[in-house]
Amino acid sequence: MENNFDVIIIGGGPGGYVCAIRAAQLGLKTACIESRGTLGGTCLNVGCIPSKSLLNLSETYHKAQKDFNAQGIEFTGLKLNLDKMMANKNKSVQVLTKGIEFLFKKNKVTYIKGKGVLFSKNDVVVYEGEKKTSYKSKNIVIATGSGPSSLPGMETDEKNIVSSTGALALKEVPKNFIVIGGGYIGLEMGSVWSRLGSNVTVLEYLDHITPGMDKEISSEFMKILIKQGFKFKLNSKVISVNNKGDQVEVTFTNNETAKEEKILADKVLVSVGRKPYTEGLNLTKMGIKKDKQGRIDVNEKLQTSINNIYAIGDVIKGPMLAHKAEEEGIAVAEIIAGQAGHVNYDIIPGVIYTSPEVAVVGKTEEQLKKENINYKVGKFPFLANSRAKVNNETDGFVKILADKKTDRVLGVHMIGPHTGDMIAEMALAMEFGASAEDIARTCHAHPTHTEAVKEAALAVDKRAIHF
Ligand code: NAI
Repeated sequence: MENNFDVIIIGGGPGGYVCAIRAAQLGLKTACIESRGTLGGTCLNVGCIPSKSLLNLSETYHKAQKDFNAQGIEFTGLKLNLDKMMANKNKSVQVLTKGIEFLFKKNKVTYIKGKGVLFSKNDVVVYEGEKKTSYKSKNIVIATGSGPSSLPGMETDEKNIVSSTGALALKEVPKNFIVIGGGYIGLEMGSVWSRLGSNVTVLEYLDHITPGMDKEISSEFMKILIKQGFKFKLNSKVISVNNKGDQVEVTFTNNETAKEEKILADKVLVSVGRKPYTEGLNLTKMGIKKDKQGRIDVNEKLQTSINNIYAIGDVIKGPMLAHKAEEEGIAVAEIIAGQAGHVNYDIIPGVIYTSPEVAVVGKTEEQLKKENINYKVGKFPFLANSRAKVNNETDGFVKILADKKTDRVLGVHMIGPHTGDMIAEMALAMEFGASAEDIARTCHAHPTHTEAVKEAALAVDKRAIHF
């Protein structure tokens, strides 16, 4: 009986551990298998959380270096201690991973250390070193996440050619830091090292950064990053990355001219996307189907081709975001418990934690045009927001897209201070089917950055007060 469960979850990342806690809350006998040695997955161990620690600390350092003096905070002897900064980051991660173990104990989730492999529809075998243990379960959830993609000719060694994992643990500030791929990871990690003193160059294949994002936001974002010292080479297809002594040589061609260029750097970050982690699970033998992109195929109830085996998070379709995986984890636990678990894929916010932050939810202008939906636009710049002005953080704007006829909010796109937190109000408004007028008629505290949202909503009806 000890090795018999109602639900076994393979993977203890944000999708898996949240699913385990919810399943246990619903009275299901639950186990979660994790091979990393600590819970929390990529997000907590080598992703979202450590990067946010470094983003926060590097921003403070950068402000102290560049802005404090002019703002009347004078001091001498500012010094970067990278070892201490890294130790602080590692400590935060350690405390948070232990926190999940505590939550497992509190909710009576069995934590199984090792690598889980599917054996049959109800059997999972866990390998931990030489040890092999079999477990039975009525339901199985695959939540194994993703790993960094590397292109041919761009293999990472986590020393000079790094993935996000290596970029979070560099021993010294590189003089020249090249980022391959102008997406979420490249721009966040590029910001960290740029603020700590590196010359950062981003090589991006497309003619714009952050693909899929509202074009106006993406181009404003690039302008702001250039002002901060970033260099961009767009339309650049990286062909190879090679260690050359202490340095790394990156070869790329221009998509328009086909001209080949080479540049040298001390460190190179390869951030060209991530791929679902499905190897070694025995999926093919089990007959679990995958789609063309190698992701596990699931139906609207998140069931795989075997109906008591579910999959959630980065191994299935949709944005590779921790909070999307968490929502799916909760939905699956509720579905297994006989409830109506559900994820609204139309309202999943996305945030890039640079400074300023970029935060988006819902449709972009490009999507609305493609779908022939008539819309109105309301925009408000942070330059006209009093709180942003007194804090000297005036870059960026809020943009609200609303249906031309019904005024229903269809998308919100922001770049500016604290927008990563502000996007929650917009997601909630959209979940309730709010109109721009609903937001405009909601009292927002003064002076806060959130007033920019109210003003953008007023601007949808061409009646912003402060701009
Ligand atoms: P990404 O998909 O965001 O960006 C990859 C970029 O690399 C794209 O702009 C692509 O055009 C470019 N690229 C591809 N091949 C190239 C080549 N040969 N030469 C030059 N450029 C090339 O992927 P990224 O940044 O690696 O992030 C992976 C995942 O992790 C994303 O799905 C993202 O959502 C997630 N993530 C989310 C974060 C957040 O929520 N703040 C933070 C970090 C990652």
